[in-house]
Amino acid sequence: MSKNILITGGAGFIGTHLTRLAKAAGHSVRLLDNLSPQIHGENAAFAPPEGVEFVLGDVTVRADIERALAGIDTVVHLAAETGTGQSMYEIDRYYRVNVQGTAVLLDILANTKTEVRNIVLASSRSVYGEGAYVCHDCEPSGQRCFPNSRLPADLAAHDWTPKCPRCGAGIAETATREDDKLSPASIYAATKLAQEEMIRIAATSQGLAYAILRFQNVYGEGQSLQNPYTGILSIFSTRLRLGLSLPVFEDGEETRDFVHVEDVANAVLRFVEKPALSGALANVGYGEPTSIMEVATLLAQLMGSETKPHVTAQYRVGDIRHNFADLAALEAATGFRPAISLEEGLGRFCAWVETQPIPQDMLDKANAELKARNLMG
Ligand SMILES: NC(=O)c1ccc[n+]([C@@H]2O[C@H](COP(=O)([O-])OP(=O)(O)OC[C@H]3O[C@@H](n4cnc5c(N)ncnc54)[C@H](O)[C@@H]3O)[C@@H](O)[C@H]2O)c1
Repeated sequence: MSKNILITGGAGFIGTHLTRLAKAAGHSVRLLDNLSPQIHGENAAFAPPEGVEFVLGDVTVRADIERALAGIDTVVHLAAETGTGQSMYEIDRYYRVNVQGTAVLLDILANTKTEVRNIVLASSRSVYGEGAYVCHDCEPSGQRCFPNSRLPADLAAHDWTPKCPRCGAGIAETATREDDKLSPASIYAATKLAQEEMIRIAATSQGLAYAILRFQNVYGEGQSLQNPYTGILSIFSTRLRLGLSLPVFEDGEETRDFVHVEDVANAVLRFVEKPALSGALANVGYGEPTSIMEVATLLAQLMGSETKPHVTAQYRVGDIRHNFADLAALEAATGFRPAISLEEGLGRFCAWVETQPIPQDMLDKANAELKARNLMG
């Protein structure tokens, strides 16, 4: 059955892909977005695709959300500030947009008669902090464990790898499941966890369906090339185009689970089309870890650059070492599993990057902001 969908933050990276897929599947789509200058540049103009309504507005402004909700049955809540490092010193802004913005939305749903029946939240793997590990010293066959976030002192000593919280031995990463320990390591992550809990509680009490989707590192065509605070592939692609070096934090062996944006949009659409009344909670990733050194090397190759990434042993407070998704819950709920390999997805990303103007490199500026606050070493 076709849905009337409101996508908050719908002019952004994931929203744009979701809009395309939702329209193609026959749904009506309205976007609410404030065209944040950090993402879209100053004085950005945005032309929504044909047949898509666009409301220029802010999720922290009650009247804007009320206007955007008319006739809507499904809300996909994407609008957010998304920079992990930046969140550590722009705490008020991250709280206001991510937590207060969600509070305003839920307050309207609690106090106004609307047609909304389903809310889908874009949450993040950052709510776990470090992912799951196994310790073979505690149990020869491998005992699951959840190390605490690395302390600034550990990072300063270049002690990158988390240790078993029980016996202190070295541990190996394993796929993270939805019922694993939650331990946000950044203000951004704390705001995403707050969004999750608020939506779970409010939707349950209001009898609404909801889905909480924890995205891993989403990449692909259309990701902001302007925003220096997030999106490692954007930052690296810009530096490669400008002939600049590719500095890789820590020892380059830290891993992320890179999932192509089209797979993510497809996963979201499944939860739009099949509302879960008792709530759904699912990781959305590709389900494989890739080291930052590996992804930087592959990107340079695909962009035809001779540049070799180099490790700097620099680090950011709040970064995790490893986390990749267990996808069993996603598959059980939807029958869908992301299938776009890193090689294919990066190929698509690189082809798109070539069509874009070369942005200014802002990495040094972003790093200087962190260093000035002792959040980077
Ligand atoms: N991209 C990833 O790797 C990733 C990973 C995990 C979770 N997520 C989550 O997915 C969601 C979408 O991420 P994205 O990558 O598309 O980000 P994005 O920055 O490309 O898009 C976010 C959109 O929200 C809009 N926005 C920001 N503040 C707003 C406000 N106050 N009112 C209205 N609109 C506002 C921005 O203008 C932008 O268009 C976010 O909630 C993010 O936390 C993304």
